[in-house]
Amino acid sequence: MSQTILRVEGLSKVFPVSYSVVERVQGRPRRAVRALTEVNLEVRRGETLGIVGESGCGKSTLARCLVRLYDVDSGRIVYDGLEVSGLRGAALRQYNRRVQMVFQDPFSSLNPRMTVGQTLREAILVHRLRKPEQVPGRIRELLELVGLPADAENRLPHEFSGGQRQRIGIARALSVEPETLIADELVSALDVSVQAQVVNLLLKLQEQLHLTVLFVAHDLRLVRHLSHRVAVMYLGRIVELAETERLFTAPAHPYTQALLRAAPELDPSRKSVVEAVKGELPSPLNPPTGCPFHPRCPQAFERCSKEVPALLPRGPEGRWVACHLLEATP
Ligand SMILES: Nc1ncnc2c1ncn2[C@@H]1O[C@H](COP(=O)(O)OP(=O)(O)OP(=O)(O)O)[C@@H](O)[C@H]1O
Ligand code: SF4
Ligand SMILES: [Mg+2]
Repeated sequence: MSQTILRVEGLSKVFPVSYSVVERVQGRPRRAVRALTEVNLEVRRGETLGIVGESGCGKSTLARCLVRLYDVDSGRIVYDGLEVSGLRGAALRQYNRRVQMVFQDPFSSLNPRMTVGQTLREAILVHRLRKPEQVPGRIRELLELVGLPADAENRLPHEFSGGQRQRIGIARALSVEPETLIADELVSALDVSVQAQVVNLLLKLQEQLHLTVLFVAHDLRLVRHLSHRVAVMYLGRIVELAETERLFTAPAHPYTQALLRAAPELDPSRKSVVEAVKGELPSPLNPPTGCPFHPRCPQAFERCSKEVPALLPRGPEGRWVACHLLEATP
């Protein structure tokens, strides 16, 4: 069995910006948001891969492309040997069963008029995963798995707290027996104490069910706690990917270094957020030439504004970095 379960190659996604009559009359070119540019990524079977980066860097777009909520403009997504962009009909439904997305707001995917039991029952039966007489037992099993009381089955989503709703969202995702979970800001809207509970649940499920997990989050402390490896994104590109502890203790890319310095959650004794990344995040409407980080990088040199650094393996420990500086010092 291959160690890699998901491979992303040269994935790009552009969102066209609406074109006003004035712009058209003035003959201005159409503008577009470059949400993802040439993203390359390999996810290992059974790992939790954290995906981090500033707001707008393309994390959610990547997650949505992976489950085919968005079509990609170019590049490939290969899941367990399957070319994902070519999937249609039953094959796509089967892929979406194997790769489930759990959202920040489970209400967006839960029917508010259906009890938790009805929601789970529907998901199990649509995919014909159990005989009808086996469904009640399976529902009890799922509720227990995510730490919800058995009577949750007969209640509606609005009767639960935020953390419990996330557990319902996870139970629904698990009801179709996926291999991979993509969690986009799963706990961002929850109180800190509840966040830890939900993250620990995810950790337990990942081990118990041998799930592969993509964990997209802002909170670097949670990502560190949960992930085996972490990918850092900047302006639609992956700039560094490494084993979690290596990334946090010895970040190699100048942007990762700045991102960690600016994270108050990694050092609670810090009184104020240090503005470690100087300057504004450039607009994805008009990304910089060369290395996307060069206008803000304290170590930028001439080549950086001209040439895009490729994401390349550095050193023996499986770290990948996109920076010209590291090319010069192998
Ligand atoms: N449906 C869309 N239409 C147009 N532009 C979009 C759309 N979705 C995302 N974008 C743009 O694409 C870029 C990447 O957005 P995305 O939501 O993927 O970022 P993100 O890293 O998830 O940010 P956040 O941390 O705030 O969730 C942003 O500039 C965003 O404005
Ligand atoms: S390529 Fe240049 S600008 Fe980009 S991160 Fe490396 S040193 Fe900085
Ligand atoms: Mg997002």
